Amino acid sequence: MSDNQVNQKRRRLLIGATSAVGAVGVGGVAVPFIGSWSPSARAKAAGAPVKADIGKLEPGQMVIIEWRGKPVFIVRRTKETVANLGKLDDSLRDPTCLEGEQPEYVSDEYRSIKAEYLVLVGICTHLGCSPKYRPELAPEDLGDEWLGGFFCPCHGSRFDLAGRVYKGVPAPTNLTVPPYKYTSDTTLIIGVDEEEA
Ligand code: FES
Repeated sequence: MSDNQVNQKRRRLLIGATSAVGAVGVGGVAVPFIGSWSPSARAKAAGAPVKADIGKLEPGQMVIIEWRGKPVFIVRRTKETVANLGKLDDSLRDPTCLEGEQPEYVSDEYRSIKAEYLVLVGICTHLGCSPKYRPELAPEDLGDEWLGGFFCPCHGSRFDLAGRVYKGVPAPTNLTVPPYKYTSDTTLIIGVDEEEA
């Protein structure tokens, strides 16, 4: 597949900004699952972009926000997690995301604008369950090779901490990275592409 074809494929995901922006805050955090915040009813009804304040997110923590009726995971990855991403390529079905959906402006390596913060649509690409955040190393139920990631309880699909799917599981593609942009070091808007800032 040529670079041009890949870019065209990724462009399918690019979604234009709409007018209203629903504000979503992050606070009162606890490891590993923090909670969820909903945009205003008006913003939700419009399918509008949502804003997330990630200033209180500690390394290793995840927050879930709702965008267009879908859960969006925002993970602050630790330095160790980021370093481990490069060790997994042989175990992954599509490590450079040639088939999964992600905006063209996220890096192939981290699937994010900044390596520290991962943003994913939290819906399994098999049959649509929501995978669980499992950041711990080598837990008993996931095995010695597990370096942290997402585990789908419905049929056992596994994804790493960039949302990349492992080989040999039912999910066919990586988790989707939605369009998003930073408006400051601690503020994200989900549903708007970076180039539309
Ligand atoms: S829905 Fe996730 S593995 Fe089937």
